[in-house]
Amino acid sequence: MNCLELLEKFALDSGIGASHLALVRDRINEFNKANEDKAAVDYDIETMAAIIADSFKLNSENLKTVTDFCVKKGIQIGRRHKKILLKYLNYRNDEDLADFFKELAIENPKADFDEVKKLISAQPVIDYDIALKKFLELWKVAESEEDTKKISDYLFGLYSKLHAIFNKSEMSNVELLNYNLPFINGELSEASIEELRAFCETNNEPGGFYEKYVQLLRQELQMQSKQGELEDSMNQAAVDESIKEHSYIKDRKGDLHYLITEEYDAVYLRLAQQIYEQFGSLKEFYNYVLDAIQQSFRALVNNKVFAVEIDNIYVQGRNIKWLLYAYVGVYAERFIRTEEKRKFYAADKICKEMFRAYGIGFEPEQEAEIDSCLKTFYNGKKESLVHQAADDLKKLLKYDAGFNIDQFLNEWRFVYYGFSFNDCLVIRGSEDGKPQYSTQVKNDNKLLFIFYKYRMDERKTPCPVCNGLNVSGNSYPEVGHRSWECKNVICKSRSKSNRGKRYSFKTNYMQFGTLNLDPENVIEKEMIAKWRKDISFVNSDEEIYEMFIKYFSFPDEKVLFINGKQEIVDKLEECGRALINISLLADDKAYTIQSSVPGISSDLFENYFEKGAYLERFFRDKAVVQYSDELSKQLDPKQDAYIVNGDSFDVLSRLEPGCVAAAVTSPPYFNAREYSQWENMYLYYIDMYNIAKNTLRTLDESGIFLYNIGDVNGNEMTTAKSNMGTKRLLLGAYSILAFEKAGYELVDNYIWNKGEPQSKRSTNDGNFTPHYQKPVNCYEHMFIFKRKGDRLAVNEQEIPEDWKNFVVDFMPVFKINSKGKNTVGHTAPYPEDIPQFAAKAFGKPGKFIMDPFLGSGTSIVSAVRCGYKGIGIEFSKEYAELAKKRFEEDLPEKTVELI
Ligand SMILES: C[S@@+](CC[C@H](N)C(=O)[O-])C[C@H]1O[C@@H](n2cnc3c(N)ncnc32)[C@H](O)[C@@H]1O
Repeated sequence: MNCLELLEKFALDSGIGASHLALVRDRINEFNKANEDKAAVDYDIETMAAIIADSFKLNSENLKTVTDFCVKKGIQIGRRHKKILLKYLNYRNDEDLADFFKELAIENPKADFDEVKKLISAQPVIDYDIALKKFLELWKVAESEEDTKKISDYLFGLYSKLHAIFNKSEMSNVELLNYNLPFINGELSEASIEELRAFCETNNEPGGFYEKYVQLLRQELQMQSKQGELEDSMNQAAVDESIKEHSYIKDRKGDLHYLITEEYDAVYLRLAQQIYEQFGSLKEFYNYVLDAIQQSFRALVNNKVFAVEIDNIYVQGRNIKWLLYAYVGVYAERFIRTEEKRKFYAADKICKEMFRAYGIGFEPEQEAEIDSCLKTFYNGKKESLVHQAADDLKKLLKYDAGFNIDQFLNEWRFVYYGFSFNDCLVIRGSEDGKPQYSTQVKNDNKLLFIFYKYRMDERKTPCPVCNGLNVSGNSYPEVGHRSWECKNVICKSRSKSNRGKRYSFKTNYMQFGTLNLDPENVIEKEMIAKWRKDISFVNSDEEIYEMFIKYFSFPDEKVLFINGKQEIVDKLEECGRALINISLLADDKAYTIQSSVPGISSDLFENYFEKGAYLERFFRDKAVVQYSDELSKQLDPKQDAYIVNGDSFDVLSRLEPGCVAAAVTSPPYFNAREYSQWENMYLYYIDMYNIAKNTLRTLDESGIFLYNIGDVNGNEMTTAKSNMGTKRLLLGAYSILAFEKAGYELVDNYIWNKGEPQSKRSTNDGNFTPHYQKPVNCYEHMFIFKRKGDRLAVNEQEIPEDWKNFVVDFMPVFKINSKGKNTVGHTAPYPEDIPQFAAKAFGKPGKFIMDPFLGSGTSIVSAVRCGYKGIGIEFSKEYAELAKKRFEEDLPEKTVELI
């Protein structure tokens, strides 16, 4: 009997009748065209029961019993293990069981599995009667609903499983090549196709085709880069092949340009005091840092990880660690300027959103016409129409005479790309993280940025299941990160709705990685526990390097360190990767490149951070109607606290200069919660920057601003407005740039350790192999800014001991009570400890502690509790009233006025 006959027999025996098979005939014929149904087997009810159990997940409970038991016993059991165990529970093939324990032993070398073995053998087999009963239940529902799609899916599902069991369905490499040839054209060069053919003819290892294909893609890209055929950021200016032969190389400043394009599987850049000291000026150092980011981007294979370690670096007594964090973060994410023509970018929308920030107006009745002109201007195919649209826009829009409208309109054709920010770990305790100069407080935190490279690469990746290239572009899970859908009808992984598998280069890379059982590929439990959160404690830098290597590369891959400590790199050879270190600090043993050194551009920093078009989008001055002290004059000096209901930007411009000793706030979050009011992140920062500027005017000479913000997930809404634009946002970094631009200087950043959120416990999906481990975010920033050039006056004796470390633990505010009711009345209150610190350390008698975003009033309550005066601004009337009520309840003997 072949598989179709088996299915017919099942249909008759089970009583569902063979007539329904007509519904799936076409699907089966199509499937068989490429994969002949030649099985000659006998009907057997056990196999049928197993297939039904597999199709309808009848063993999930049994699987859960075993996995729960393992978890309870501290046995690490991941997705890979569960898959094999489930296969065993369905089909009861002893080889699968042996495989399961073999793999389990890799993650759990010391565990005893006797009890697990017993438990597995005690799990009942799903026999034919049980399986059939379940099948008929589902079948009856589908039939009564006349759901022909479901009926067809059920039958086809059974058929494809029968087929997979009784027919060999894997293609040989030569068959694969022939199948794929029509789809490879245009993706690979003639020479590469020949190389692929030669490979397939002599090699038939499973997975070989995939690996060879990916290797050829990489080789071609490297070639194109050397020949200068790629986008600017990817072309290799200086080629010296000798660099490939060495693992310890001296960087004579500029030698990073010799690194080969897309050659390294993970890159780690270290920035430390000694590195800074190699340069004559801070500006030169910054230029080097930006250049190193560019070269790392080019040298790293796509979809892989770039890490930047930032240590305490003291420049004329100032620790620039967090400032460097802002420069590195923003530049790394957005250093490539490119004209974006893909559909997901709506230049017309962004341009229109930006009108108000650039002082552009229009008559409301002309809005529809303006919208249509903008559409044509950005998306029009015919040049004459685009010109016409520009002319029409100039007539319809109102703007100042000197304003360069052409430049403005053209600007929004461009977007900025680069790496994608993933996390910034705060690492404590490393021996050389300690400051080399004396400071009042202990600051031994190091930072470790983790970025992914998502370069726009539209070349196809083969389907991980069938290795076919008959695929179509599905979407972008993240900007720049392409995903595909398999179109091969015989691919085994088709879903019930007959959709092919969706995958990307990155998901394939991670999943194939789980199949490598080499112990060097498995991450130890202790390491996962140590790095579970994004604040961690280490005893040496070696632990950081080791985590980086094991988390973000597979055995045998090339891991590049830039300025790595050579003695640590040497030691970690035992991780089984090819480690390369190119360092400014290399000693005589290092290899020196023979060719002449290409220079590092001397105006990279200035052109980007001081004059660049990108940051101009964020930090634009808003016009103030008139500065005055009119509001201060209304205030009664005897009053303890004031709540001003209004917009901070306006209210602050009516306060007397110098009346505030310390400002403290947690600002509204861009795009979060109900008070989100900005269409994109540029507009948000324009507001934050202007409020910071107006606050500076109210600060007294030694006044400070304590700014509490976290790097939350969200969408900047500047490139893709859909979900693919969602990622971890670098709000802290942009805030630092906004304040520096507004005239402040960053003093330091206290890390508020909020602890691990309950909901985020397991983030590695049960996988213990590289690229699945993701530390949970558990902190927020508390930046301390002062006016540039002013001295810092601290009430030293008032600083609690806990604050002498740069990581502090406060409990977050529990605003939801046991009945699920919000007891505070505000969606985002912060703990009183934050404003209390500002008040205690920086308060002055007679002056205000001021919060420009008061919310539920926490800041003024704690200011007054500490013996100072409080003033808060809140533009929601409801919150302003809530803050007043809260103040009166918390401090009945004190006075507050709502203005
Ligand atoms: C994150 S909440 C502050 C929470 C506060 N720290 C607390 O403990 O309750 C930010 C507040 O700023 C207010 N807000 C937003 N934009 C504002 C503006 N331009 N002027 C004044 N208040 C504003 C929002 O209504 C919101 O209540």
